[in-house]
Amino acid sequence: MAERDEAAFERLSADRLAADALAAGDPTGWFEPLYANADAAGAAPPWHIDEARPLLVDWATEQDLRGDGKTAAVVGAGLGSDAEYLADLGFDTLGFDVSPTAVRLANERSTHANARYEVGDLFALPPQWRGAFDLVVEIWTVQALPLDVRAASIEAITSLVKPGGRLLAIAWARTDEDAPLRADPPWPLTRTEFDLFGAPPLKTVKIHPVEDFLRGEFAR
Ligand SMILES: C[S@@+](CC[C@H](N)C(=O)[O-])C[C@H]1O[C@@H](n2cnc3c(N)ncnc32)[C@H](O)[C@@H]1O
Repeated sequence: MAERDEAAFERLSADRLAADALAAGDPTGWFEPLYANADAAGAAPPWHIDEARPLLVDWATEQDLRGDGKTAAVVGAGLGSDAEYLADLGFDTLGFDVSPTAVRLANERSTHANARYEVGDLFALPPQWRGAFDLVVEIWTVQALPLDVRAASIEAITSLVKPGGRLLAIAWARTDEDAPLRADPPWPLTRTEFDLFGAPPLKTVKIHPVEDFLRGEFAR
């Protein structure tokens, strides 16, 4: 019987890496070690799936979304499953992530010439990305960031949208804003935080709650 490598298992623990980085006052410092450790172990981070997120696919399918050469940005793109999907729909797609390992792996996995991956930090965006994208997709990045940088992260995400462009944000939701938060991410968003995505010059078109996520503990 194989023995579990406890040391390797510990190194892979997202909660532990997050706790250490947050204690050091570095809200994004745990992502790169997590991707690097997972890669070294032949694994992927806990949130990764090989296909696009089903809620993104539902949203796109509902409206027969076509890129037709328009530009899209995927925030916190990880290993690129959502960006590859948008490229497949015909968007000229940039996936960016703060983790260089994630970006390297996404470039290696990519099968679309119209998808590219770059290292980028929401808190230090290249000026040329601001207002450059017809579609911006944010899934689960903001909820992985602590509350004191939430507003800044959402403002940075909205700044990517081209005039007349669109933003799709998917996150876990806190239906009870007063409920105590867990020590470790993700930290579901409040309605007030969701509303920041629609602050001018953007305008909220639709907020679509998906109820009873995780045994009814959260919505999305
Ligand atoms: C919980 S994961 C979600 C990944 C992907 N969006 C998904 O749905 O599977 C959050 C991602 O955001 C990235 N990230 C965190 N902070 C970031 C920042 N400041 N700028 C860019 N990417 C960031 C992380 O490296 C990670 O890939």
